[in-house]
Amino acid sequence: MTICQEWSQERWAQHIRAQMDFEWKREGLPEGFPALPSIPTGRYTDPAFFALEQQHLWKKAWLLVAREEDFDGPGSFRTLDRTGSPLLLVRGQDGVLRAFFNTCQHRGAPVVRERCGSAKRLRCQYHSWTYGLDGRLLQVPDRRDFGELDESKRALKPVRCESYDGWVFVNEDPGAPPLREWLGPVADEWSPLRGTTLRAHGTRCERIPANWKIVADAFLETYHVRTIHPQTVAKLLDPRGAAMGLFANGHSRMVTPKWEAALERQQGSPMPLPEIPGLDPLFAETNPAYSLFPNLITPLDTIGFPFILFWPVDAETTDVEWTFYGPPSQEPEHDRAWELFLQLFDGVMNEDFMNLGPMQRSVASGALESIPLSYQERRIYHLHEEIDRAIGVERVPEPLRVAPRLAPFLEPWL
Ligand code: FES
Repeated sequence: MTICQEWSQERWAQHIRAQMDFEWKREGLPEGFPALPSIPTGRYTDPAFFALEQQHLWKKAWLLVAREEDFDGPGSFRTLDRTGSPLLLVRGQDGVLRAFFNTCQHRGAPVVRERCGSAKRLRCQYHSWTYGLDGRLLQVPDRRDFGELDESKRALKPVRCESYDGWVFVNEDPGAPPLREWLGPVADEWSPLRGTTLRAHGTRCERIPANWKIVADAFLETYHVRTIHPQTVAKLLDPRGAAMGLFANGHSRMVTPKWEAALERQQGSPMPLPEIPGLDPLFAETNPAYSLFPNLITPLDTIGFPFILFWPVDAETTDVEWTFYGPPSQEPEHDRAWELFLQLFDGVMNEDFMNLGPMQRSVASGALESIPLSYQERRIYHLHEEIDRAIGVERVPEPLRVAPRLAPFLEPWL
């Protein structure tokens, strides 16, 4: 008999503390942990592999694209083209947020050209076919000249759009599982963040001349911290205690403890910003970071956190976009503190970025056939296993496949 128990933040913290303790004390590889086959570098450079990702991964994944408060009333809309298809999100008269392909069902022009705005109806800017906020085709100029046109079959094509705790995701696959089910344990573990109460405090975007996986891999381990971030992250985090959890659907967690000295500095000069109430002390003592497959990374903190998104532009170019979220500012001093915090974070991001373009060129030279990964880089292997599952293993050319190894090491739902 299976007994379902409510998710508990306290039990989550106990679990993580036990994992960190295990990591600190181990003297070698954990017993039974498998040798991970090396990752073929063609996965980062081969245009055919990139095309497979475009067709089968990005068009079937839940992708974070907005926040509920970005759509503040009926008719409020945004257009997007980051996910691979031009999309339109609009809140209906009934308050429901919907997503559509931004593709007019006359001759395919984008219905809406503006990036954001508000409208009572959606009028295509080419010949003025007009759609309701629910996507139905309402009006066709010179209707008599179209004969037997069936308007009911010319509604805007819908795209799945679901929200969790204020975060808005889209998925072009009508057969995708519901968002909440796909998030799995991550949704529970994010629930203490009170997502609906948070607000954006600044967005940045940087174009990186590297494949999106070169970029994503860099955020999935702390092995690089001592050498890439010696004056910043390395003074804050102790990678020896990094506790990692692998979840179904390619998601993962990594909680890295802070050094004692860093905790003392933190207590001596706390950030002058309101904290998210009700968080377990573990949030202040560590850096809990999550990866949501395929392209979202978030290192959490008590005052807020960035959601970092990796958007492929082409096989060797990636846009990295990050927005900080935290409790709303209550005074001008808070906005100034956020601006300073964002500048500090820019410095850390630049330390990562300066390595990635040269790394892409180096990998593309053919001088490295495959990448051997260590135990502490296993979240990278987990990402690549899921990429192959998303594409369909049988479609991935055999020399580029990643053999499944980590299924026995997925964490049970806490
Ligand atoms: Fe939209 Fe003609 S393409 S009205």
